[in-house]
Amino acid sequence: WFNKSEFIPPDAIFALTAKFQADSSPQKVNLGQGTYRDADAKPWVLPSVNLAREALLTRGLQHEYLPILGLQSFREGTAKIVLGSELFDKRATQIATCQSLSGTGALHLAGLLLRATQNKQPTVYIPEPTWSNHHQVFKSLGFPCESFKYYDYETKSLDIDSYYNMLKQAEPNSVVILHACAHNPTGCDPTKEQWREIAQVMKARELFPLFDAAYLGFNSGDYDEDAFPIRLFMGEMDMEAGVCISFAKNMGLYGERVGCFLLGTKDEQGAVNLQSMLEMLQRSEVSNPPGFGAKIASEVLGNDSLKEQWFQDMETMSSRIRAMRAALYDNLIASGAPGSWDHLIQQSGMFGFLGLSLDVVLRLRDEYHIYMADNSRISIAGLNTGNVEYVARSITECLRD
Ligand code: LMR
Repeated sequence: WFNKSEFIPPDAIFALTAKFQADSSPQKVNLGQGTYRDADAKPWVLPSVNLAREALLTRGLQHEYLPILGLQSFREGTAKIVLGSELFDKRATQIATCQSLSGTGALHLAGLLLRATQNKQPTVYIPEPTWSNHHQVFKSLGFPCESFKYYDYETKSLDIDSYYNMLKQAEPNSVVILHACAHNPTGCDPTKEQWREIAQVMKARELFPLFDAAYLGFNSGDYDEDAFPIRLFMGEMDMEAGVCISFAKNMGLYGERVGCFLLGTKDEQGAVNLQSMLEMLQRSEVSNPPGFGAKIASEVLGNDSLKEQWFQDMETMSSRIRAMRAALYDNLIASGAPGSWDHLIQQSGMFGFLGLSLDVVLRLRDEYHIYMADNSRISIAGLNTGNVEYVARSITECLRD
């Protein structure tokens, strides 16, 4: 049965983490996978998450099944925070939600739902570059996928004209993947004005917005600011939209797989029907979602003092990342790194998109034990005051040779 099976190379980002872990050099620096690290390069359990965990344990934790759609208080808390209370109150009866296996699971549920509801599988437009899993998720479900130029490698900035052109030419009823904020890997987001233009063109051309929202609150430290495009499309523009929400980064719940798919529709019966369909799709796929992480997130979202602590935690993470971005920039300039590095401080979010050649990336990995993705994306959280000068100096040395 299986004699035609081919070997699939390991996922590049996970393989990079494994390589880093196997490196015995005391100098090694992990700038690969997007996971937050504290100033000592250690994983960080958010204080708000610790408090929520303690409260759950004190009350007594059981391990029964969750409902198929997931924990109701988590789904509602998620919809409220993503939409903001005003929009939530306005559209509460027009949304369908389903707890998911983090952001990837939400994208997958979105794909299953689109496949089940559309006459013909729509084309999915995906920015280039993008998060490495986007193509895989939609291709594996049989969607035709088209890349569009999002980033100009010459100017090292968002290519907004190419973006608008794609939207104007895309076949109506296509899907467009939108990074809600902190575009992965480039760190370049549209401005608010550009988002308005994107929304207007998409509405006029009947394109379906599917947001990948993995960094809300983690990008700027201000949740409302980061959720701006979602609220613009579903509020001011009154559009149907899908939102794939992850709590991996902004609550540090990576391995617990806490996420939610939210669909904003136009009518109440539509929302009921679509939610029933999500329930059926979820049942056939994972039966019911995992409980522990969702209970933690629900506790944080539903308790004012824990929520306040969480906002502070997101500010702690995003401000440390901002400080390290600036420190890398300063050290690159101080060590005389050739070229301009302004792009680095114009970007935002977890990643820096350095613009180094593959040769330099591999040399940094092999000779200097500095690990970054092949496209020279760095997870800035891997930098700290103990290694940033070394990283900058090493980049400078490689570029000079
Ligand atoms: C990343 O982009 O490094 C993270 O989102 C981790 C992943 O799953 O790829």
